[in-house]
Order: sequence, then structure tokens, then C-alpha cells
Amino acid sequence: MLPEGEEKVTAVRAMFDAIAPRYDLVNRIMTFGLDVRWRRRAVRALDAGPGATVVDLACGTGDLCRDLASAGFRPVGVDLSLGMLRHARTDAPLVEADALRLPVADGSVDAAVSGFALRNFVALEPVLDELARVVRPGGRIALLDVATPANPVLRAGHHVYFGRVVPRIGGALSDPAAYRYLPRSVAYLPPPDTMLAMIGTAGFGAVRREMLTGGIAQLLVGTRLVTTAAGRSGP
Ligand SMILES: C[S@@+](CC[C@H](N)C(=O)[O-])C[C@H]1O[C@@H](n2cnc3c(N)ncnc32)[C@H](O)[C@@H]1O
Repeated sequence: MLPEGEEKVTAVRAMFDAIAPRYDLVNRIMTFGLDVRWRRRAVRALDAGPGATVVDLACGTGDLCRDLASAGFRPVGVDLSLGMLRHARTDAPLVEADALRLPVADGSVDAAVSGFALRNFVALEPVLDELARVVRPGGRIALLDVATPANPVLRAGHHVYFGRVVPRIGGALSDPAAYRYLPRSVAYLPPPDTMLAMIGTAGFGAVRREMLTGGIAQLLVGTRLVTTAAGRSGP
């Protein structure tokens, strides 16, 4: 059984505290370095102007913060796990906080990104509502996570690699329980259409899903709508 509610928050924080020292190494090995390419794609999808302030939600060890800074933006990283933040390699300001309660003023950031964290939140809707609160109208969000390929052959290969090989690699190099949890945690992700609808309901328009590397990862993008007294209008 996968944990839920407060039990999940406690388990997720403890797990990332434990795997933090070798998190980057295991990521690079198990994705053959593709995770680096996916994060850069997410940063490009923001289409933000130079100097834009971008929240990196669940920033972990700061990979996206570094990519954001290289692209000329001003990242701010937020994460629940102090262990992950202590191992971060970035000059960006980092804050220990829950994605459900961002210490950021309403409409005060130009954009937000998140890398491989959606499965780890207790619930997606309140996190999306929180993103809609902090991102200014017209600003974009770009959310990355793992996915399951639609092609049956790729799906079968991915099932073996992600379900059996990845836990062995992670178990050998880091914490076995954490890397057994990784393939199981995909079950937390709602179906793609539901996720797109949730993003729309939270207050984002032009919502789209981009499949990466044959569908083993996905990028969800949306633009914060302008909210008027009469309701929501266009981005
Ligand atoms: C798989 S790691 C991803 C780290 C980084 N974004 C990356 O691209 O490598 C997931 C991160 O989500 C963080 N996290 C999980 N639940 C969170 C929450 N409720 N609020 C903030 N961070 C959270 C974990 O501490 C962990 O650092």
C-alpha cells in the first residue's frame, strides 16, 4: 500500500533526506543523462523574458535552478527535504517549505517549474492552486514528470527497465526502499486528461502535454489566465 496524507509527507521527506547524497548520480545513471535534457526542455517551454523570477517547486538538489540561471532567469528553489537542499549545487536562494504553502506573495513570480515531483505531493489540485496563486497572469508553468509510453513495445521495455532494473541500480548505489518506491509511485499520477483538466481548473490556459523520449517522460505546460471580476479571460 502506498502512503497517503500526512503519512505520505513524512515518508517522502524521510526518503529524500536519505537518498540526497547520491540522488544526482543515480538520476544520471538510470536515465542515461536524459533527465538533463528534459529539464532544459522544461526551462525553454517557459518562454520567459530575461531576468524572469521563476519558482522551482520541489527543487531537490537544484538541477532546474542551475538550468534556469544559465538561461538568464532568477530562480528560487523550494523543497520539503532539508537533506536535498543541503546537497543542492546552485547559487539560487533556497527555501525549506511545503508546495502546499509557498512562502511567496500572490502574483509575484513570472513562472514556475517542477521536476519529477508531482507524484510525491499529497494531492495535485491544491499544489496547482498554489501555483496559480503565485504566478502572475500571463506567466507559464512547466511541470515535468515520468510517464508510461503509449507504444506497446516501448511500454513493455520500459516496464522491465523502470520496474526491475532501476530499483536494482538505485538499490546498489543508494537506498533500496526508495528506489523500489520510485516505479510504484507512478500510480499516484492521475490519467493525462485528468491532469490537463486539473491544470485548467486551477486557472491556466493553453494547457498542453508534451511527451519526451518516446513517452518515458512528460512535460505539462500552462499559461496563467487573467482573472477578472467577471471570471477568467485569456492568457
Ligand atoms: C524526485 S525529486 C526531484 C528533485 C528535482 N526537482 C529534480 O528535478 O531532480 C522530488 C522532490 O520533491 C520534493 N517534495 C516532495 N513533496 C514535496 C512537498 N510537498 N513540498 C515541497 N517539496 C516536496 C522532495 O523533497 C524531492 O526533493
